[in-house]
Amino acid sequence: MNFPILKNDLILRVARGEEVDRIPIWVMRQAGRYLPEFRELRSRHDFFTICRTPELACEVTLQPIKRFNLDASIIFSDILVIVQALGMDVEMQPSVGPVISDPLKEPCDLAKLKENVDVHSELGYVFEAITLTRHRLNGQVPLIGFSGAPWTLMCYMIEGGGSKTMSKSKKWLYKYPEESKQLLQKLTDVIIKYMVEQVKAGAQMLQIFESNAEYLNLELFNRFSGPYLSAICTGIKNELKDQSVPMIVFAKGGHYALRELSSFGYEVIGLDWTIDPIQARQIVGDNVTLQGNLDPCALYGSPNQIKEMVHDMKLKFTKQRYIANLGHGIYPDVDPQHLRAMIDAIHE
Ligand code: CP3
Repeated sequence: MNFPILKNDLILRVARGEEVDRIPIWVMRQAGRYLPEFRELRSRHDFFTICRTPELACEVTLQPIKRFNLDASIIFSDILVIVQALGMDVEMQPSVGPVISDPLKEPCDLAKLKENVDVHSELGYVFEAITLTRHRLNGQVPLIGFSGAPWTLMCYMIEGGGSKTMSKSKKWLYKYPEESKQLLQKLTDVIIKYMVEQVKAGAQMLQIFESNAEYLNLELFNRFSGPYLSAICTGIKNELKDQSVPMIVFAKGGHYALRELSSFGYEVIGLDWTIDPIQARQIVGDNVTLQGNLDPCALYGSPNQIKEMVHDMKLKFTKQRYIANLGHGIYPDVDPQHLRAMIDAIHE
């Protein structure tokens, strides 16, 4: 595809465990509502229209890159596009979040899902957005592709939106374990194809979001999350072989499974803010890169406070095998100047 030469490969080198002289940084949800330029564009377009229009998705992806000294970009999209590809109707309602009009209620509802998902016809717009963005980035920083993990996507398909307890989805795990596994495997198969095609379209790194790991425990994780996260990593690397790219697994609230997460083959483990970096490093050993984990709310502090907290984080993670990030996505009411303070403190 003849993409422009990459000028900043810092994050890729850190992911592979190479020695570097400075810490790379990117931020989850770096393209989003805390940026006035995003809110302006969003006021003119529906959320999924932006995702489905490569020109718009590309423009939004580049917004934080133009503003800040970041070391990676992440393609603008959403984890729920896979749920749409499976035939479910998902809307993004302002100040509510995602709403799925006809969620899965009983195992017989699985028959409503599309049988063989052709990722090119259903999700080709994501691949087009990735290719366009790779060109427009002009090699400035790498482009990260992403997907939701099976358990997290299953939750949305059953809850029909957000939930405080995930009790409907967890009911499936206890009441219908075999059908749950069927659904998780179906999602796994689509996710592998989807992420392989993202790389073929130009993604230089991949992150998988298991945002709902916090609702499981180790036993449930080992049955309903871990095996699929492992299969996704292996499946993608087997498919891509020497075209493989570094992969990040972010299991929010999954500190109880850190040891397991470090055994699946992912080069990078993303941490939320609830685990101490020193403890995390002890658990995972020296063969993986850690990413994270500043509390997103820390950005409500003053720039001086942010600087101190970042300094402390850098001391704990050390410079090697570390990618700076927040412990979850940036909140919409954060002052962009405070994100700048975080980025500057990492680069200092
Ligand atoms: O990080 C980036 O800049 C890339 C874009 C991105 C979005 N969503 C854009 C978005 C990414 C990587 C995601 C991932 C995502 N989406 C996750 C995993 C990360 C996490 O937060 O745990 C999840 C669970 C979703 C599902 C989702 N999308 C929810 C629950 C919501 C509503 C909550 C919210 O933040 O509003 C969204 C909406 C969403 N996704 C927005 C953006 C910019 C805001 C929607 C809007 O503009 O109306």
